[in-house]
Amino acid sequence: MTTGIDRISFYTSRYCLDLKDLAAARGVDWNKYSIGIGQEIMGIPPPDEDIVTMAASAAKPIIDEVGVEGIDLVLFATESSIDQSKSAGLFVHGLLGLPSRCRVVELKQACYSGTIALRMAAMMVAASPTSKALVLCSDIARYDLGSPGEPTQGCGAVAMLVTAKPSLLTLDPEYGAHTEDVMDFWRPNYSEEAFVDGKYSTRIYLNSAAESWRQYAELTGRSLSDFARCCYHIPFTNMAAKAHDRLLKESGIREDRKEITAAQVGESLGYNRMTGNSYSASLYEGLACLLDTATESLDNKRIGFFSYGSGSVGEFFSGVVTPGYRDHLYTDRHQTLLESRTAVTVQQYEDIFNLSVPSDGWDYSFTEYQTGDFRLAGMQAHKRMYEAVS
Ligand code: HMG
Repeated sequence: MTTGIDRISFYTSRYCLDLKDLAAARGVDWNKYSIGIGQEIMGIPPPDEDIVTMAASAAKPIIDEVGVEGIDLVLFATESSIDQSKSAGLFVHGLLGLPSRCRVVELKQACYSGTIALRMAAMMVAASPTSKALVLCSDIARYDLGSPGEPTQGCGAVAMLVTAKPSLLTLDPEYGAHTEDVMDFWRPNYSEEAFVDGKYSTRIYLNSAAESWRQYAELTGRSLSDFARCCYHIPFTNMAAKAHDRLLKESGIREDRKEITAAQVGESLGYNRMTGNSYSASLYEGLACLLDTATESLDNKRIGFFSYGSGSVGEFFSGVVTPGYRDHLYTDRHQTLLESRTAVTVQQYEDIFNLSVPSDGWDYSFTEYQTGDFRLAGMQAHKRMYEAVS
């Protein structure tokens, strides 16, 4: 029984900040952001946009196209959770009118949780091939103003429909995984911003990629040349390039590593370069970008994936692209969304960042900004109130 991704849809906020402006405001050489880190623009979520509205907006085109019938599982992956008890997916269940037979759960392990959600969904569909699962990955990346992590902020959501006989990508069963208890990046419940040991986190990421790849390669006998493309978790685009370079080095490849990396990884980076980190969604934003923009057809080609979540869990896995996949993409929608965003000034970004919303659950209405198909209208008696945008 083949299972995997039947549809993939990406959403990011309607506002963004040009990192050229941030570089000027922080007195940093722009080349550090554009060349050193590999980022150009970051997504800015307005106050009435959160992980629920972004995930529902990502999923809406899929529901509009294929309907809700047969969807009996929603797995919501996030590390920007809005409630300690209720799954964010339940709000999406309501907004999209999903069936009452559909089970909903939220999963957390930093940026890795989208991958375990995808693999669990695939296993559940394999056990019951007429059913479908919706995997939602949605996050807002937030570091202190003026911190080294600041230019790597961003936001976004990816929705994936997981089915038997998928139209986009069949997942291979094999994987390599690496888990270790480390404090490279974390966000205690009392903090809106993540704490991060930046340089250490990049070393842990690279080590996790190498260990996961070594295991996968031993298990499958595959080498990096067996992959037409590779997609990585993308906290910033140069991290993905460094990770591929490391795997090439580990595989004994001494020459042309830069060119090989550009050919195998380059086409997955374009969207992230324009949105910044979307944590759990970031790897799959890379996959959406690759499928949308690859210049040659990827029909029947094998793609390698490295998923990383700080703390840390890493997994290398793979999948094979379904022939005819190009007929099932939302390329125009994704590209229009990225091109039609409203640029904010550094002052407007800082005002949004610093906006203090009551955290005591008292009634509150959010000013209406541009959002996707849904917005967070306010709080009433400790309840989050969402609405569709007409
Ligand atoms: P930093 O210390 O400000 O930067 O922060 P740097 O001094 O290391 O410079 C970065 C790169 O720019 C370097 O290149 C410089 O040489 C280069 P590299 O040595 O790395 O190849 N550079 C320049 N290039 C051209 N022109 C110039 C110039 N100046 C410098 N003028 C850091 C960098 C990544 C540490 C910071 O942004 C940070 O803390 N980010 C957040 C943490 C992060 O993203 N970690 C990644 C791995 S962990 C992960 O991916 C998980 C995560 O997504 C969370 C989760 O799992 O939930 C974060």
